[in-house]
Amino acid sequence: MQRETLAAQAVPAVGVAAMRYRWPGAADDCLSIEQFEIEAGERVFLRGPSGSGKTTLLSLVGGVILPQAGTVSIAGQPLAQLSAGARDRFRADHLGFVFQLFNLLPYLSARDNILLACRFSATRRARLAARGTSADAEAERLASRLELGAVLHRPAAELSVGQQQRVAAARALIGQPGLIVADEPTSALDADRQQAFIDLLLDECAEAGAALLFVSHDLRLAHHFDRVVDLVQLNRVVAEAGA
Ligand SMILES: Nc1ncnc2c1ncn2[C@@H]1O[C@H](COP(=O)(O)OP(=O)(O)OP(=O)(O)O)[C@@H](O)[C@H]1O
Ligand SMILES: [Mg+2]
Repeated sequence: MQRETLAAQAVPAVGVAAMRYRWPGAADDCLSIEQFEIEAGERVFLRGPSGSGKTTLLSLVGGVILPQAGTVSIAGQPLAQLSAGARDRFRADHLGFVFQLFNLLPYLSARDNILLACRFSATRRARLAARGTSADAEAERLASRLELGAVLHRPAAELSVGQQQRVAAARALIGQPGLIVADEPTSALDADRQQAFIDLLLDECAEAGAALLFVSHDLRLAHHFDRVVDLVQLNRVVAEAGA
């Protein structure tokens, strides 16, 4: 555990180099990024107009899609060097995703949706054990911090959108992955919950030494972060953004 933390600090959480991505069938590249790094533990706010490629970049960082050229590395590991199965396992161990559409399993309870992240990752379970806690206890703790305690037993399909968003956050955070990637995670929350959500995300990332890549249109949230990155400036493709 300690060795893993030290190793994670020595290499960037995310490394993107000479990377180009074009969606299948598209006439033009969506993204062309010469260099982009997120340091271990760094909190980055990613902005850019609708259609500029923010979600696409997060999918590349997650290894969900692979670039046609260049490299994307997580904690020093180039994702394209892993087989599809190994990439899935690597993602489960090292990345927590909060998606724009939360991707909860509707028939599972909030608790089981949160625990799913641990079921697929022995590494996450081992990190919890090293802290003297269990997946169940940690799910309870996160749920209580996110004001989800009363709905933990309810199927995700019966939760409000804001509750689903918080379940997705707890699922990303449980077991302390080194990188949390969040795509518009506060869009469905009221102002008070938005603040509580950001506080929780930042606290948990700080405690775990996790880096945070956070996408939002809401520039009022930017001051919580170490750095603001504008994708239109980062991307060498002149996109017809904002359509
Ligand atoms: N699955 C896909 N297949 C083909 N093209 C796609 C796909 N997903 C996104 N695109 C295209 O890639 C470009 C960038 O889309 P992306 O979803 O990354 O933008 P975004 O910045 O996340 O926008 P928003 O702020 O609206 O979420 C758009 O032109 C979009 O049409
Ligand atoms: Mg998007």
